[in-house]
Amino acid sequence: MIPLSKPVFDEEMRNAALDALQNERFVMGESVFKFEEEFARYCGTKFAVSTSSGTFALQLALIALGVNRGDHVVTTPYSFVATANAALYVGAIPVFADIDVRTCNLNPELAKEKLTSKTKAVIPVHLFGFPADMKNILDVCRDVNCAVVEDACQAHGAEYCGRKVGALGDVGCFSFYSSKNMTVCGDGGMVVTNNEDVTRKIAKLRDCGRASHCEHDLIGFTARLNTVNAAIGRVQLRRLDEWNEKRRVCAGLYDKFLSDLNGLVLPPNGSFDIRPVYHLYVIRTKLRDRLKVWLEQKAIQCGVHYPLPIHLQPVYRELFAFKGGEFPNSELLSRTALSLPMYPGLRKDEIEYVCESIREFFVQI
Ligand SMILES: Cc1ncc(COP(=O)(O)O)c(C=O)c1O
Repeated sequence: MIPLSKPVFDEEMRNAALDALQNERFVMGESVFKFEEEFARYCGTKFAVSTSSGTFALQLALIALGVNRGDHVVTTPYSFVATANAALYVGAIPVFADIDVRTCNLNPELAKEKLTSKTKAVIPVHLFGFPADMKNILDVCRDVNCAVVEDACQAHGAEYCGRKVGALGDVGCFSFYSSKNMTVCGDGGMVVTNNEDVTRKIAKLRDCGRASHCEHDLIGFTARLNTVNAAIGRVQLRRLDEWNEKRRVCAGLYDKFLSDLNGLVLPPNGSFDIRPVYHLYVIRTKLRDRLKVWLEQKAIQCGVHYPLPIHLQPVYRELFAFKGGEFPNSELLSRTALSLPMYPGLRKDEIEYVCESIREFFVQI
């Protein structure tokens, strides 16, 4: 079976984990702070605060930016559900704007139409590792003075105009869940920012609201990254660029072998200014469900990201009475997108086999 993704755990990570377990505090050990420093340096921000998940990174970012009950948070409906949940956790209302069908990311023009005096934040997502149109998003947000929280949970190391995503808006949020471009071999997250007040507040919020060991001046959460996971994260961070480069090579091979197939839409290419990191390699076809079954019969694991856009998730339908048809581009993607195997160790002959199998599918239909 060729899997959809393959997390890496090797000798160096095992040793780092053991070392941290034997020599550091289990919670808030030295590795946590070193990982934060190194991650901030990697992203080119002044600060980074780790959290227990990407979901918590988003939630704490919104709280620290002062997003409150009844405020609006504009975001894309075509993402993992946590993006919009972050707004609901703080009592705010997620307001969806549809995506650009080519990039699968928030369309700045459509987002602009949703901005009002109630909008306190916009959350663009760099979906599948492809940077969102940050220049135009930042421009429309500047006009109404609302914060920009980048959901970079799928885009560690992606670059936009020479800068790392996550470092472009007010705050950037990352996930280290096991399928991501880098993981901590467990759940984990990170917030990056240049804002010192936001950093202090998130550092407290993730640690039970502590001002000092026994004093709590905020209602906080237990949302810390464990020391052992931070120790593994430090090793993975050092490999990230090499892994992302390998992903780009894999994407280039898929592009080459699939580009002549009618009826298939390939992911957008990068450019000098936009360097995607192919968290996923997502193709589009009207025959998505049949192609998925076909490939799985040939021992090729595929994924669907996402079969339901957020607004059509049962809980969102119930809360906001969405019925379908509200966000046509997101709904189109949900019906047609198929994720092919993508990970740094994927071999050329495996990619050839996947592409040959796709070709056979289109010949026999
Ligand atoms: C786009 C996006 N946002 C948020 C999250 C939430 O991250 P986590 O699973 O670490 O809570 C994820 C990942 O799972 C994601 O892919």
